[in-house]
Amino acid sequence: MPPKISGIIQALEPSATMAMAAKARELKAAGKTVYDLSVGEPDFTTPAHICQAAVEAMQAGHTHYTVASGIPELKKAVVEQYKAAHGLEYAPAQVVVANGAKHALHNVFTVLLDPGDEVIIPAPYWVSYAELVRLSSGTPVIVETPQENNFKLTPQALRAALTPNTRVLLLCSPSNPTGGMYSREELGALADVALERDLTVMADEIYDRLVYGENVFASFPTVRPGLQERTVVINGVSKTYAMTGWRIGWSLSPQNLAKAMADLQSQETSNPCSVSQYAAVAALTGPQQCVAEMLAEFAKRREFVRKRLAAIPGVSFPEISGAFYAFVNIKQHLGRAYGGTQVDNSTQWCLELLAQKNVATVMGSAFGAEGYARLSFAAGMATLEAALDRIEEFVTKS
Ligand SMILES: Cc1ncc(COP(=O)(O)O)c(C=O)c1O
Repeated sequence: MPPKISGIIQALEPSATMAMAAKARELKAAGKTVYDLSVGEPDFTTPAHICQAAVEAMQAGHTHYTVASGIPELKKAVVEQYKAAHGLEYAPAQVVVANGAKHALHNVFTVLLDPGDEVIIPAPYWVSYAELVRLSSGTPVIVETPQENNFKLTPQALRAALTPNTRVLLLCSPSNPTGGMYSREELGALADVALERDLTVMADEIYDRLVYGENVFASFPTVRPGLQERTVVINGVSKTYAMTGWRIGWSLSPQNLAKAMADLQSQETSNPCSVSQYAAVAALTGPQQCVAEMLAEFAKRREFVRKRLAAIPGVSFPEISGAFYAFVNIKQHLGRAYGGTQVDNSTQWCLELLAQKNVATVMGSAFGAEGYARLSFAAGMATLEAALDRIEEFVTKS
């Protein structure tokens, strides 16, 4: 008999984005050309000065354990960046550096939640939130938001979801998967409910610097006085600096939570990779021109994707204000056959698109929104052009 897997892990849904990316890789390994719009990973290489800082860190002997919650230089750089960008004052002790923002989120849920504690998650949501809450013994409470409101949570919908067990409100702005972003006013209205009902807010701000056009990003703790004491901000270098593989993210939180997370991390993972931490210091404190250049390229791709999608009959998508995703409503293209195969839901649609046209996307159901598909435009322009030709052909000629 193979060893028994624990109940909590048996109930775990593996990440659908990772699964689609793995399928795309399998096809590539079998010699197929795959147009991969599945994964939220910038296609740029990490800027050279950041890589150089990592080399220098290794040469200087920074190849040992560090303080479990992160090196002081990185905490200082994070604090200074939040001060400069948003005018927020944090002490370095409020920063806990983790192995990516995903790990930072898991840390926060672990130290915050007891069994039965509810976390409000507006849907569509990033694939990992609900699973991380469950892994931390909490209960995700999914609140649907309509496409007509650009998939944003309203104070009314938030109030309707509150119970005596509600502990946490989770907000992701700019959003993965929708590309939507809350205005300062919209966040303020949600903050009023959080203050009134004594909620802790987790603000996932990992896409804060990937914002397009006239849109202005507002960091959640800045929208009302008194929020900083009840907010955990999540951020990291993965998306802004094309550093997904380095695995550095962090939380900015009230001191008692930061202390609890540092203790947890000291038992669980020790420190995040020492060399990556030095690279992250270079990312935050070095020249920022690379961020502007990547943003300009994402902006071009966003324009291209919007134009191409707008020309495909029977699909719609909300305004893309930030991040690098289009969340496409494909409901009019379900309930029919594609190349002889009946397709009734977003999973079947994405799998057939991959099988018949070699284009990888992610099914809306993975984000709690059936009838949609997420396209990442973190892929290069040639890939996007070929993928959109094929998507158009798939829905109009199948
Ligand atoms: C909304 C959101 N939060 C967190 C993460 C995790 O980022 P990291 O690679 O730093 O773990 C992602 C990555 O896809 C994301 O989209």
